[in-house]
Amino acid sequence: MVEKLGKEVSRRDALIGAGKIAAGAAIVTMGAAALISRAEAKEAVPLPWPYQKIDPKEAGQIAYEGWYKAFCSYGVASGILVPLQKKIGEPYTNLPVEGLRLGEGGTVGWGTLCGSLLGATVAVGFVAPYDVGKQIINELLKWYSDTELPLYVPARPRAEVKIQTVSASPLCHISVGKWTDAAQKSLGSPERKERCARITADVAMKTVMMLNDWKDGKFSSSLKLPSAMYGITAQHNCKECHGEKVPQPVKG
Ligand code: HEC
Repeated sequence: MVEKLGKEVSRRDALIGAGKIAAGAAIVTMGAAALISRAEAKEAVPLPWPYQKIDPKEAGQIAYEGWYKAFCSYGVASGILVPLQKKIGEPYTNLPVEGLRLGEGGTVGWGTLCGSLLGATVAVGFVAPYDVGKQIINELLKWYSDTELPLYVPARPRAEVKIQTVSASPLCHISVGKWTDAAQKSLGSPERKERCARITADVAMKTVMMLNDWKDGKFSSSLKLPSAMYGITAQHNCKECHGEKVPQPVKG
């Protein structure tokens, strides 16, 4: 806001200068006053906010460490937003990333959308135009579902992670469940925690890579949204939950 205010003040000076020369100085001054009061009222900065390319490795590291501070949702959001706070400052510095920690455990342990994906969804919502953001998150959820995770290997691991699994779903419950079953580790084990911390890094890195591509004009995606493919808001793994008899969505 400081920068914005500075710009508007200098614009006012310019306007007042012009007003002294031109007739109707009073009207010009009134216009300038409106500009200043908007800045002083601290109106929300319109979206999307400015973006500068982030080093995916930096995002991964911040996200990984972030998991051990406040878990997955906060971790990914900080991996994306903290570098932007450093590079760009406001409005990013007005957004305390801790506000995103409730996404942990697929939203306070309910096992719904993996918190790392929630963190990415919220962060991208500030950075990318709506249509671009939608495709980035669509691609992200598909990649998360289809990829053997985790991939990230931290410089200073807190625990060993020997097993990678494909979740086939963006749901925390399914993703964590498949991994804990394959690894035979409990939810409270250091290995499961490390696994989620590494996935947090993976998701931050993947998101940043797509944002960087978009910034370079290289991001494109023709992946359809599930709602457009199936006629119901859904994930792609219908049979895993429904078995062979996948119910038909109501048409029309
Ligand atoms: C994570 C598990 C899960 C996945 C994946 C999933 N569903 Fe469902 N779906 C359910 C549950 C649970 C219900 C509600 C109970 C039920 O009827 O089986 C439901 C309900 C439905 C319904 C409403 C009709 C009904 O029988 O209740 C339709 C239609 C449907 N699902 C279609 C799909 C399609 C198509 C896909 C894949 C594109 C899909 N589902 C993927 C779990 C899932």
